[in-house]
Amino acid sequence: MQSSEAQRPLYDIPFNKPWISGDEYRYMARAVEQGHISGDGPFTKQCSQILENWTGARRVLLTTNCTHALEMSALLLDLKPGDEVILPSFTFVSTVNAFVLRGATPIFADIRPDTLNLDETTLERLVTARTRAVVPVHYAGIGCEMDNIMEIARRRNLAVVEDNAHGLLGRYKDHLLGSFGCLATQSFHETKNFTCGEGGALVINDPDLIEPAEILREKGTNRSRFFRGQVDKYTWVGLGSSYLPSDILSAFLLAQLEAHERIQARRKTIWKTYLSELRGWADSIGARLPIVPPHCQPSYHLFYVLLPDLTRRQTLIGHLKAQRILAVFHYQPLHLSTMGQRFGGRPGDCPVTEDIADRLVRLPFYNGLSEEDQARVIEAVVSFRP
Ligand SMILES: Cc1ncc(COP(=O)(O)O)c(C=O)c1O
Repeated sequence: MQSSEAQRPLYDIPFNKPWISGDEYRYMARAVEQGHISGDGPFTKQCSQILENWTGARRVLLTTNCTHALEMSALLLDLKPGDEVILPSFTFVSTVNAFVLRGATPIFADIRPDTLNLDETTLERLVTARTRAVVPVHYAGIGCEMDNIMEIARRRNLAVVEDNAHGLLGRYKDHLLGSFGCLATQSFHETKNFTCGEGGALVINDPDLIEPAEILREKGTNRSRFFRGQVDKYTWVGLGSSYLPSDILSAFLLAQLEAHERIQARRKTIWKTYLSELRGWADSIGARLPIVPPHCQPSYHLFYVLLPDLTRRQTLIGHLKAQRILAVFHYQPLHLSTMGQRFGGRPGDCPVTEDIADRLVRLPFYNGLSEEDQARVIEAVVSFRP
């Protein structure tokens, strides 16, 4: 084998590829020149401002990733061992881990078969005297049924933390996702619409949580008050850790947030092209494409196909791999994971989750996916006749 061939990547079309708007490197250089590359510098402030404008939140704090924003949420809600938190089994592990780290008990809810979001019709049955919070995940950036979830949460006195890792700029009935709960969490991981490699944000909609969140994020000090001139020295005032991203990362992120119109327009086109071009094929083999309720506007985060069964899902992934295209699946039901079983999870607890997890495949989806490459993916998918 020639050495150049040995170095050839396994896939011509990866599942995800970092994309830059064009201003990232210039902004990062400026952060260095400005002499502020630690946390909460000028670029972090600009990103927070943009996110506050978008979400209408009282305060948005950038974090090192969405996992940490979720951990901050669990700390801010002061969850204790024995407290219960309801969340979907069909989600990324951080959604649950953040709360279990505080000693809380996860109560796994099943998902709706259409949007794959927490099934709000089963929510109230899971509430007990120990339930403290519910964590809806806006899967694929399509909104959960927030009217029902918020109504149950109000009546049963539960905090709502939206895991909005997928959903920035998505809408539910004209309200932005991330604007419903007392807290919401965002991700700027490499696979997300806007990225700085690893990054996140805590969206704070409850004004009473702003100062506790600032203290928590600043190693338990009132440093933010000090910088605003509200105290003449800062000191240790509570529990805390360090969840601030470097201003170099915020500089990268700012360039992406500023390019949001371009990014969202491109992602919308990619999403709609998959939907229209795969419709006939999907119908002919009994597969199904994403369903968006009329009152929801997606964030165009990801595109999935549900195959009729596990065998055909795996065969499609192999079929695409043979054409040097990488497609992936997720999530394995959390209630059936090693940890989930320790919390009592058993097969059959969340039947929709268990069924969907075997059948879902995600197609390549990134800002820089060219028309030609997408056409190649579509051609490869429709040539799959199981
Ligand atoms: C639903 C959900 N929540 C949380 C996370 C964690 O995000 P991060 O990688 O920024 O910590 C992810 C990651 O993809 C996710 O999909």
